[in-house]
Parts: sequence; structure tokens; C-alpha cells
Amino acid sequence: MNMAESHKKLERNVTLLAVGAFVAVAIGGIVEIAPLFWIDNTIEKVDGMRPYTPLEQAGRDIYVREGCYSCHSQMIRPFRDEVERYGHYSLAAESMYDHPFQWGSKRTGPDLARVGGRYSDDWHVQHLKNPQSVVPESVMPSYGFLSDTTLVVADPAAQLRALSHVGVPYGKDEIANAETDLAAQANPDLDGEGLAKRYPKAQIRDFDGDPSRLTEMDALVAYLQMLGTLVDVNSAAAQEELATEKGR
Ligand code: HEC
Repeated sequence: MNMAESHKKLERNVTLLAVGAFVAVAIGGIVEIAPLFWIDNTIEKVDGMRPYTPLEQAGRDIYVREGCYSCHSQMIRPFRDEVERYGHYSLAAESMYDHPFQWGSKRTGPDLARVGGRYSDDWHVQHLKNPQSVVPESVMPSYGFLSDTTLVVADPAAQLRALSHVGVPYGKDEIANAETDLAAQANPDLDGEGLAKRYPKAQIRDFDGDPSRLTEMDALVAYLQMLGTLVDVNSAAAQEELATEKGR
């Protein structure tokens, strides 16, 4: 029986055809799905990415609470216009510790994935208090009350512990020191040595211009100034490029 003959048989027998089609589709499915059971992570590790400090995390919670994501995305797409405006496109690893993620598809204001270091702390405080005072045509609402609101994180250790349960690698050391680290980042008079060791590149200073108290403004500005600064994207990109070169 030649090939055409046996195929004729397959096509004329509904049951056989259905079984054949199922097997063909199943192979495609297995090829796509099965590898996911054997790899720990679908995100490539990138040097420099670390969990957020307790203060950055508190700032992030304020960011989410205030709905900043309803006007700002944190995901630079690999298109020329975006890269020229915002900087290197976002890497998956850069949002791997985000719960919830802040990618977004709505940009009333600019993308913030790499806003860290672009402006001074003073600029941020002024802008958050009264956006129109620095960008007259801005439609951003004002968040001046953050400067008057003492930062309250009920249990910083519990927060890190909760995040560790969903895969953020906070260890015993980070959890045990969460409360002191939270205060130390915004107050250079406190001992920030442990904090700097636990969280490389952590920026330690008074962020809101009022060293006498720890406010929600401190936390939010600390968070904004960290965004996009952890990974040296140019070297990561260089590595990626090298890897593709080698693969060729
Ligand atoms: C109603 C929409 C809206 C909301 C909500 C909003 N923003 Fe904005 N934001 C804008 C617009 C529009 C701009 C551009 C004009 C300007 O700089 O004010 C902007 C600009 C910014 C910039 C400057 C970015 C740059 O690259 O120049 C930062 C930082 C910022 N917003 C942070 C925040 C934070 C933090 C929150 C939440 C507390 C927030 N925004 C909430 C609309 C919004």
C-alpha cells in the first residue's frame, strides 16, 4: 500500500482522522507546554536586580494606592520612539519583583520605568505637590498631602515575609531588619551600613526636604528615584547582544 492509499483510508475514516488530528495537535501542545515544567523561571536573570528596600516598597504601595498607574505605565517597549524618549527598553527581569506589576497600556503621563535619577528630589517633591508649578500644562493632580502624612507601615517585616511567599527573595536578614532599614534609608543619621549591604545601590538620604520626620513623600520619592536604576541596562544589553552573536 503506497502513501496515497493509506492517507485515503485515514481521510475516509472519521474516527481514525479524529485520533490522528488529536495526536498531531497534542504533539504541538506538548512541545510548547512541557518545557515549562522543567525550568524554574521564564525570566532571564540580570545583574543588579534586587528586591526593593522596605522604604521603596512602601513608596510603591503608595504609588498603587494613589492610582498613579492609571496615568503612567512602567514598561518601555522596544520601539525607536520609546527608546529615544525614555531610554533602554524594559527587561522582563526589571519587573520580576513587582506584585502587582505596573506595565500598563494607558499613558496620560509619560512612562516612569526609568524616571529614577532624571530629576532631583526637590523637583519630585515640588512636582507632586503642585505639578502645574513645574509643568504649567500638566493635567496631573496634586499630591501635597503626602508631605504632611507620616509614613505608617504597620508591620514592615510581615510585608517582606508576605512578598517572600510569592517568590521575592527576602531572606531572614532582610525580614529581621525591615523596621530599622525602613527608617535608616531616609535618615542618614541612623546606621545605614546594613541597609546598603543588604540592598546594593540603595539611595540613603532625606528625600522630602524635611529631615525631622518620615513621610509618605519620603517613601514615594525614594521609590521613584530607584526606578530603572538597579540594572546597568547597557551592559545587560551588551551581554544579550554578545549571546546572540555567539549563537550565530
Ligand atoms: C490624571 C493623570 C495622572 C495621574 C493620576 C498621575 N500623573 Fe504623573 N503625570 C501626568 C502627566 C500628564 C504628566 C506630564 C506632565 C507633568 O510632568 O506634570 C505626569 C508627569 C509625571 C512625572 C514626570 C515624568 C517625566 O518623565 O517627566 C512623574 C515622576 C509623575 N508624573 C509621577 C506620578 C505619581 C507618583 C503619581 C501618583 C502619585 C502620578 N504621577 C499620578 C499625569 C498623571
